[in-house]
Amino acid sequence: MNIIFFGPPGAGKGTQAKIIEDKYGLKQLSTGDMLRAEVSQGTDLGNQAKAIMDRGELVSDEIVIGMIAARVDSKSCKKGVIFDGFPRTEAQAVALDAMLKERGKKIDLVLELQVDDNALVERIEKRAQEEGRSDDNVEALKNRLAQYRSYSAEVLPYYKAQGDVPPVDGMRPIDEVTMQIEAILDTDEEA
Ligand code: AP5
Repeated sequence: MNIIFFGPPGAGKGTQAKIIEDKYGLKQLSTGDMLRAEVSQGTDLGNQAKAIMDRGELVSDEIVIGMIAARVDSKSCKKGVIFDGFPRTEAQAVALDAMLKERGKKIDLVLELQVDDNALVERIEKRAQEEGRSDDNVEALKNRLAQYRSYSAEVLPYYKAQGDVPPVDGMRPIDEVTMQIEAILDTDEEA
């Protein structure tokens, strides 16, 4: 089963992907985590991406598509993948569809985590104090939210044209959000 967790910065995509991957034997592929790993290892790719990420803008399609392509064939992805933070553009969505089709696979489900802007800002401010992520600051967050508004208007219609994109109320406590996601996944598996 291949799933996309779609939602704004701070919606809980990573939090939920980490819970769900263990329960369902899926592999979380987070382009944000991969990019942060490149930055902390000081690779060329990381050095190229850092300033863009710190501004809260999008890294190039070529870079993120390449990172996903390098991982989809790994053994840990055999039972399926939770794509977290990818795709963020129509070009990324088209490339992902083609990548999966070549392997006889497809996206089975796209979930949209919905959270109010005020709650997102609170969560990111809290994480800024706890973890100090370099893009968790007022200016970058403003850009990340603006980017989200722009790319969600491009990516959600792409998937809605292919089928249902069930909404998940991401304002609920973490365990309740998990329960909503599990209910959708279990229904989808039975279908
Ligand atoms: P990325 O790492 O994907 O950042 P993001 O989308 O801004 O997402 P976050 O990690 O902030 O949020 P999340 O939804 O995962 O929430 P989380 O679970 O962490 O991308 C970073 C950057 O990389 C981008 O800006 C871009 O530059 C680049 N990039 C990445 N992918 C790209 C792509 N495909 N194309 C181009 N560029 C790309 O939760 C957030 C906080 O809230 C946590 O502290 C958590 O504990 C808390 N929380 C979670 N759920 C709840 C809840 N239900 N109630 C209360 N608190 C909660």
